[in-house]
Amino acid sequence: MKQTILFVLVILMGLACQKDDGNDPENPYQFVRPSHFPEPTYTFENNPVTENGFKLGKKIFNDPILSIDNSIACSSCHVKSVAFADPQHRLSLGVFERVGIRNAPGIANMAFMKEFLWDGGGIHLDFVPPNAIENPVEMNETLAHVVQKLNAHSEYPDLFQEVFGPIDSINAPLMLYALSQYMNLLVSANSAYDQFYLGKGSLTANQQKGMKLFEEKCASCHSGVLFTNQDYRNNGLDTVFMDEGRARITEWDGDLGKFKVPSLRNVAITAPYMHDGRFNTLEEVLDHYAQGVIMSPTLASELQQNNKLGIDLTTDEQQLIIEFLQTLTDWEFISNPIF
Ligand code: HEC
Ligand code: HEC
Repeated sequence: MKQTILFVLVILMGLACQKDDGNDPENPYQFVRPSHFPEPTYTFENNPVTENGFKLGKKIFNDPILSIDNSIACSSCHVKSVAFADPQHRLSLGVFERVGIRNAPGIANMAFMKEFLWDGGGIHLDFVPPNAIENPVEMNETLAHVVQKLNAHSEYPDLFQEVFGPIDSINAPLMLYALSQYMNLLVSANSAYDQFYLGKGSLTANQQKGMKLFEEKCASCHSGVLFTNQDYRNNGLDTVFMDEGRARITEWDGDLGKFKVPSLRNVAITAPYMHDGRFNTLEEVLDHYAQGVIMSPTLASELQQNNKLGIDLTTDEQQLIIEFLQTLTDWEFISNPIF
């Protein structure tokens, strides 16, 4: 009997945590899986999101103290108004105007991703920020020195105490936990597409035509509600790979020029596109798939069918797909005052 009650309780709690758009109006600082999203991959049991933890993470994310000359914050390259992508730079721009090697992707729905970075070199969200902090062309700092600066700061020691309880001093793992709490709550699940998917809103006839085309021609890679199969593919950008992509991690020639299939949520506002930001518009992207795909040994099989390179798409069809992609913009996400 006791067990049954417990079981029912657990089920009820589970239901209570399933909100459509990942927002709980009662407690906006709670991580809520949108009902149509998969289970998160993040290890919340070690680092649950709390209101103060989230706010601390947000403060750190926006603080240039993380860079060597206090000039660059995470938010310099991940800009909220464009779903935390970088609208200005094809390749990211770090301290001392140093140009990076890749385009800064948007940050949304990180809690659901299995691997991070264009080459999948990040295998846990907690370990991604050091990549930027210690990168000579991004923040050019050391974790140890950042921690030292935080400990000497007038506000951070108290804020960390409030979140993580009695601690001797701030350390790198706690700082990374706070950043993850912030990023984990950045869930984007309330676009026009989501409203339609959940039967609560409509899409125009053209948007629906675009969706059908997308499902036929694009969704083998950009699949599911996250719009990525979370795998690595060469989508035919180059023959010579300036950036080896996935092969940088696996050191296998068979992975040369493969990159993580990016989520397409909010894609209409996250230009420029591709790992090196080479395309400025969705028109250019669609034009690439229709007639720009280049042959190479690792090219994805989907892009070389019937002895033809690329994806069969008329100009009208390309436009319809773009109209569909625009329905993936989540205005509530980018205007959420707590983010
Ligand atoms: C100088 C610009 C710059 C700064 C500063 C920066 N990033 Fe990034 N960020 C990038 C770039 C570029 C990538 C992609 C790098 C790659 O794939 O190798 C990236 C990737 C990421 C990713 C992975 C996203 C994904 O979909 O895989 C996360 C998470 C992230 N950054 C968080 C942060 C945090 C947190 C900070 C602050 C500690 C930060 N970034 C600072 C440019 C920057
Ligand atoms: C074979 C797998 C595959 C197929 C099919 C595919 N894509 Fe992609 N797509 C990728 C990969 C991989 C990337 C990233 C490549 C890179 O940056 O080097 C990408 C990147 C993109 C980007 C850039 C996103 C960003 O944030 O920079 C857009 C937009 C896009 N694809 C749209 C589409 C559309 C629309 C279709 C169908 C017409 C499509 N893709 C078909 C694998 C695929």
